Amino acid sequence: MNFLPIIEAKRDGQMLATLQIQAAVAAFMRGEIPDYQMAAFLMAIYFRGLDSSETRTLTLAMRDSGATLQFPDDARPLVDKHSTGGVGDKVSLPLAPLLACLGFRVPMISGRGLGITGGTLDKLESIPDFVTQISPQRIVQQVQEIGCCICGQTADMTPADRALYALRDVTGTVPSIPLIVASILSKKLAENLDCLILDVKFGTAAFMQTHDDSSKLARAMVNLGNECGTKTRAILTRMDTPLGRTAGNWLEVKESVEILENKGPQDLRELVIECAAHLLQQGGLSTNLPSARQRATDCLASGAPRRKWDEMLEWQSADLEKFNTKLKSHNAPIIHEIKAPRDGFVTQCNAKIIGEVIRDLGGGRLTKDSVLNFDVGLDHIAKSGEKIEPDALLCRLHAARESDAQAAIIRLQAAFEIADSQPEILPNIVEIVE
Ligand code: URA
Repeated sequence: MNFLPIIEAKRDGQMLATLQIQAAVAAFMRGEIPDYQMAAFLMAIYFRGLDSSETRTLTLAMRDSGATLQFPDDARPLVDKHSTGGVGDKVSLPLAPLLACLGFRVPMISGRGLGITGGTLDKLESIPDFVTQISPQRIVQQVQEIGCCICGQTADMTPADRALYALRDVTGTVPSIPLIVASILSKKLAENLDCLILDVKFGTAAFMQTHDDSSKLARAMVNLGNECGTKTRAILTRMDTPLGRTAGNWLEVKESVEILENKGPQDLRELVIECAAHLLQQGGLSTNLPSARQRATDCLASGAPRRKWDEMLEWQSADLEKFNTKLKSHNAPIIHEIKAPRDGFVTQCNAKIIGEVIRDLGGGRLTKDSVLNFDVGLDHIAKSGEKIEPDALLCRLHAARESDAQAAIIRLQAAFEIADSQPEILPNIVEIVE
């Protein structure tokens, strides 16, 4: 294939034909387009953009570059949720079993963390023997039998996204709305979903810094998801402060179990219920949002999602006995309490600094090959707006070594700010795009 005219056309801001985009993806996957040409094409897209029909063609070509999940007909809608990522964002963990108990099938295909953004698979791998890589046949079987599964992408699903993302990652072309839309939606559309809820975050520790940018990304994904036959909505949420009171893989699993036990922090619980409520409405299982929220709240209180979680763990080979023992007693070797220097109100709990500290403690990845320490992180995090007494806990730090802990403590001083008057408490959920 002569790819040069296609690169030049996009460089000059022309619109590409469907066949040109389809042929480019197919040729790249056959190894007929060298990385340097594809990198130039991605950069042209970064500067010139793609319109909605080009984005749709690219998304579908990427989806069709590999296998898709095929489920038997069933009254239970197929649903999933995707978050653009943040610090302390563990919503997927309690959400999948909750949705299964509400009457959905949930083939939740998740990713790993990179940089300060945590990944659902990393969190789950802190559970003894839990297996995240399972075959497509097994995903379908598990979802049909118990209603949910949280696992990694299989090798044969959306290989074009893997190849293109690897190039984008090293060519400065990740932050392009059409490329992000195509990347996220190609993977979600390969699950053959009826409904999808997106949590699009903005703020200091998010991929998108501003409300405006996250709105644009959400609008583009919602429009394309709906056009492709998956009922799609987006919840826009802030990511300036970690979600919940923990950040770090194992600590986040523990907090997720608290949510499943009908406890846990209010902001996390609210977002889990909000995602479930929107899916209930999108899937036609509830007629309005207030009744959907009530249904999700009641279901969480019933204890059924906690039992479903255990069932999911067993299906994915986890050692439940070891897990339950670990829940009660396991901690990192070094724990330090970080206390407030004065009384007042917390005016900042900076998710970006906290995410960087945890990454550098070994809880996140500096490169794709980094080996994670699941135990490190923070819990008991004090959140913006909260009143604190002198000597009250700002957070507890979990580290592998004393020297790491000391370095982290110095950096964490800058993450928290305390003032005399209470700051305006901003809602975490800012907008619904549908
Ligand atoms: N997450 C993805 O899966 N793809 C992107 O391009 C960005 C975030």
